[in-house]
Amino acid sequence: MSTASAASTAPGDAEVHTLVIDTDPGADDVIALLFALASPERLKVQALTTVAGNVPLSKTSRNARLACEWAGRPEIPVYAGAQRPLQRTPIYAANIHGREGITGVEVHEPATPLAEGHAVDYLVGMLRAAPEKSVTLAMLGPQTNLALALAQAPDIVRGLRELVLMAGAHFNGGNITPVAEFNVFADPHAAEAVLKSGVPITMLPLDVTHKILTSDARIARLRQLGNEAGRIVADILDAYAPQEMKHYDMPGGPVHDATVTAYLLQPSLFRGRRINVEIDSREGMGFGQTVADWHGSLKRSANVNWIVDGDAQGFFDLLTERIARLP
Ligand code: RIB
Ligand code: CA
Repeated sequence: MSTASAASTAPGDAEVHTLVIDTDPGADDVIALLFALASPERLKVQALTTVAGNVPLSKTSRNARLACEWAGRPEIPVYAGAQRPLQRTPIYAANIHGREGITGVEVHEPATPLAEGHAVDYLVGMLRAAPEKSVTLAMLGPQTNLALALAQAPDIVRGLRELVLMAGAHFNGGNITPVAEFNVFADPHAAEAVLKSGVPITMLPLDVTHKILTSDARIARLRQLGNEAGRIVADILDAYAPQEMKHYDMPGGPVHDATVTAYLLQPSLFRGRRINVEIDSREGMGFGQTVADWHGSLKRSANVNWIVDGDAQGFFDLLTERIARLP
């Protein structure tokens, strides 16, 4: 892993992405979205697509538009997607993210309405029209929308450059069951379909997100930026971190989804390995588990770049530098 600072010069740290972000905001999703929308020279965000997850779809769709408003980017179209998982009964995480889905801050109905049309239809149309391997899709919630799009139009893989997912857990253990992470547990059948798509995939699981943790100093630095976005991020983290710290006995709170944005901007902050990953979608104790074959025991072909470590200070340096750019 590089010990690069925010000014790293590794090749991937200068990549420009044509980007769609699929999201279930969600406290950490909002931070990831603000982070991404503050980096327009590197992340050409085409749209946000929303999915039910942390809270029901109506709230994730409102919260995604709020993130665009808070980032001063109300022109970014937000398409509402799947209201429920492919097969399993819906689950939510309002106990963690608050009843409205963004703990720590007041919400309101954004001025900008939802974009016309379903997120799945948007993904199909956009990817069919895109140049080959040109679009990066960041996925911050259950992967239902992409799974539906792949079922409706398998040819869309042609337009995809890479999928970067906050999903899964192996060395760390799960956060919703002893072995399952929420985004996969909430729709394991969708995760299975996405893993089988053949598109290059990078996953940022709990193995790395539970190592990139807040501290009072890191949150204070965001608040001291003096802008509204810095206050919003600090208020969210002040509300979100303590319950995670208590539950997992950690010295700080994770900012799961924001690691996806950091990876897109500065991959040299992270370290991982290409391995084989399969999803257990059978009913039972292993439901929603990402079976990560870190040592290649099964001799199956690698299908995921599985990230296990990251430079926490480099992450917060980059996050703070970008949030400083916002209103
Ligand atoms: O397990 C963490 C993931 O589940 C994050 O994406 C969080 O927003 C929730 O969706
Ligand atoms: Ca999320």
